[in-house]
Amino acid sequence: MKIRTIIIILTLGIFAGCKNVNQKIEYPVVANIKLTKTLLAVTVVADSLRVPWDIQFLDDHQIIYTEIAGQISKLNLQTGERKLLYNVPDVYQKRTLGLLGMCLSPNMKENPYVFISYTTKTSEDVFSKLVRLTLENDTLVNPEVLHTIPGSTGHNGARLTFAKDGKLLWATGDAHSKTFAQDSTSLNGKILRMNIDGSVPADNPIPGSLVYAWGFRNMQGLTVSDKGVIYTSEHGDAIEDEVNLIKPQQNYGWPQIEGMHDLPEEIAIAKKHQRTEPIRSWTPVIAPSGLKYYNSATIPEWKNSLLLVTLKSQSLRQLKLSDDGQTITDELVFLEKQFGRIRAVTVSPSGDVYLATSNQDWNPQPGFPKPNDDRILKLSPVKKAVHKPFIGVKPTTEKGNVVDGLTLYNSYCESCHKPDGKGVANVFPPLAGAEQVIGEPKKLIDIVLGGLSGEITVKGNKYDQQMPTFNFLKDEELAKILTYVRSNFGNRSSEISATEISKQRK
Ligand code: HEC
Repeated sequence: MKIRTIIIILTLGIFAGCKNVNQKIEYPVVANIKLTKTLLAVTVVADSLRVPWDIQFLDDHQIIYTEIAGQISKLNLQTGERKLLYNVPDVYQKRTLGLLGMCLSPNMKENPYVFISYTTKTSEDVFSKLVRLTLENDTLVNPEVLHTIPGSTGHNGARLTFAKDGKLLWATGDAHSKTFAQDSTSLNGKILRMNIDGSVPADNPIPGSLVYAWGFRNMQGLTVSDKGVIYTSEHGDAIEDEVNLIKPQQNYGWPQIEGMHDLPEEIAIAKKHQRTEPIRSWTPVIAPSGLKYYNSATIPEWKNSLLLVTLKSQSLRQLKLSDDGQTITDELVFLEKQFGRIRAVTVSPSGDVYLATSNQDWNPQPGFPKPNDDRILKLSPVKKAVHKPFIGVKPTTEKGNVVDGLTLYNSYCESCHKPDGKGVANVFPPLAGAEQVIGEPKKLIDIVLGGLSGEITVKGNKYDQQMPTFNFLKDEELAKILTYVRSNFGNRSSEISATEISKQRK
């Protein structure tokens, strides 16, 4: 062998050996975003994950993330190295259930704790657990169960974060219960506030209780601003997804009141009792998930904003806050449908934004999952674009003006029954060829006006879930939707008129 060849082989060997130590990897740019001044690059820092539900920064170059089936891992952004820290042994993972929210203690040197919220199952009952783990070198040890609360086949929340005063906040779901959210002695459908060991702080609004605020349905986002203001994002039923500003001992209304106080019954309740309105609500729904307060100079256009990521509308949204943080003054939608469902958002110590997609979950949208889903994406300023940049757009709100059947179907039915009307196996029944759709108009009108629950059989298969009511839609809108579902997906049934709907409403 020639000396030169030997040197080359040796050199290659040395470089290969050092690869994960010194070399910073360059992540490929998959998109660009243009803000008023700042240009952002979107890069993929991790892929082939399974529903990363929460992402948190451990230090300036390491992320800890959860995956829904129970894994907690660490990602080194400089080397790309991933390491499994812990596998939660008793996770019950099905549809939306599994390992959900996570947060790190604000002072990891003194209290090296990682807090997680997940669903678990004993014989027949589902529970949500809040567990504290201790980070020791590269593993998580000493799991301590801080709290166990009732769970269900859905609506288990959950997010965790620390308030400015060092107390731990846990946003819990209503576990599909009709009574929990309004019952201040139940821990479901609440913002719970606790000490780092799970005990009740002496200054909680209800003495001896973890309950800090109540009247919530299913929160998927929780964040605290630099000034200490607490915000949540929450899934509405068929309408009114929300962002709330959380204050102690306030009642946010669910299930007596949904979203804004705009119906006569809601106004009447709010007149009599203390009820707090959301600071923003969305109809048609967008399925809001992760929420993070942004205030870094790295992306100046986003200073003093809430960054909200969404599942159904598959986007990142900037909700610009007023100076006092009490109201949302503007909203811009980014990356709609580019990366599919987005579940989690966080901000690095240097002010870059990280997102986690959720396309391997139970409800993938058309065109997803892509072969390398799920992914963690990084948004950071760059000088030059390599793709035609996306810009932020104002949200479209269709509420109020009657549009065509397809648009209405996409706004109100598509997320569950799917664009092709075929539904989701075992969960959402098909509209294509279903007796309930192509049969007598009266039955179909009843379903959308009254909603559905309990076991039903559609095309020979049993379903036992809940469908919300759509009685808030105008006669004309419902007529267009029902005519659309009766004459598409291979269905060939008669039209339904606004008059028929109006008659049946009474
Ligand atoms: C949040 C999810 C969701 C949305 C949105 C939704 N549905 Fe449903 N739908 C369901 C579920 C779940 C069932 C089955 C209920 C049960 O098991 O009792 C159902 C059942 C039905 C049925 C009867 C069974 C069948 O497949 O024919 C019809 C008809 C129907 N939906 C129409 C609609 C229409 C029209 C819209 C839009 C206005 C709509 N749905 C929006 C979840 C949804």
